[in-house]
Amino acid sequence: MIDKKVKVKEIRDLGSRNYLLTLNTPEQARLVRPGQFIMLKCVEGIDDSPLLRRPFTVFNIYRQIRSGKPAGLELLVKDVGAGTHKLVQMKPGGMLDCLGPQGRGFQISADMRNRVELACLIAGGVGIAPLYLLAQSLLSQNVKPVLFYGGANVGDLVLREYFERLGMEIFFTTEDGSFGRRGLITEPASEYLKINARKNIRVYACGPWGMMKAVHLLSAQNNLQCEVSLEARMGCSLGACLGCVVRSRDHLGEEQYLRVCQDGPVMNSRLIDWDTIPL
Ligand SMILES: Cc1cc2nc3c(=O)[nH]c(=O)nc-3n(C[C@H](O)[C@H](O)[C@H](O)COP(=O)(O)OP(=O)(O)OC[C@H]3O[C@@H](n4cnc5c(N)ncnc54)[C@H](O)[C@@H]3O)c2cc1C
Ligand code: FES
Repeated sequence: MIDKKVKVKEIRDLGSRNYLLTLNTPEQARLVRPGQFIMLKCVEGIDDSPLLRRPFTVFNIYRQIRSGKPAGLELLVKDVGAGTHKLVQMKPGGMLDCLGPQGRGFQISADMRNRVELACLIAGGVGIAPLYLLAQSLLSQNVKPVLFYGGANVGDLVLREYFERLGMEIFFTTEDGSFGRRGLITEPASEYLKINARKNIRVYACGPWGMMKAVHLLSAQNNLQCEVSLEARMGCSLGACLGCVVRSRDHLGEEQYLRVCQDGPVMNSRLIDWDTIPL
């Protein structure tokens, strides 16, 4: 894990309060694994508010055009509050404190191609953020990823061209019917799992709590392993403050609390008590 000041290369407005922020930081980019995050101070001055850094998943590693070597990080940022609002107003050349990469990402092993035929990636809104590096990694392991991407409206379905360029099969839904099929993303995902019931499938999800709970239940009904990338408010991100805990049960059914920053953000969905939403 590296703690350093990094330079803002570019910030692109994607609409509907979503932004793609590119940071120059080759050392951190080299270390990133799919599903990991960084902690970013959203303002330049060390004493400027908000004081606490905010967590952001690494959406993509951008590379030098000639050498193909990692040059920096691309982050999808949704402007939802004080910190993200200041962050999206940064200009190219601005400097930000960046700690990471950190956290437990998706479990990807070299022998996966022998055990997994299909990977269903299910995203709600900015929950798309951890799934692009995951899709790339699955493809490099010869596992076929299929994307299910849902939002309230078309404005929520950002960066879909990245996945289209990978040549993946993609299902889109919007609640208002402005793009793709009208309804919730769990509907086509459920149908797909039924049609492909004989295949060895693994499920990955990121999005609002209710969506991930529904995906967990769907996976459990179909007896499939499911990994979810969780969000929780973070203080230290180092495992000390316990501000980010999620309620869980151990293998004996005893209550325990897992830290999203250290034990996650990616966890097996069966570990989580889905009836207790984190703070
Ligand atoms: C591991 C992890 C990865 C994340 N990745 C991304 C990402 O790739 N892109 C992205 O846009 N956001 C991501 N988030 C959420 C992001 O960290 C929060 O939106 C951000 O911290 C809000 O800061 P703020 O100062 O703008 O909001 P605040 O003013 O602090 O709060 C504004 C609103 O956002 C809610 N909120 C604040 N923090 C969180 C949080 N951690 N999770 C959920 N809701 C929160 C508050 O409840 C409140 O309603 C991630 C969170 C975690 C834990
Ligand atoms: S944020 Fe402090 S323990 Fe996770």
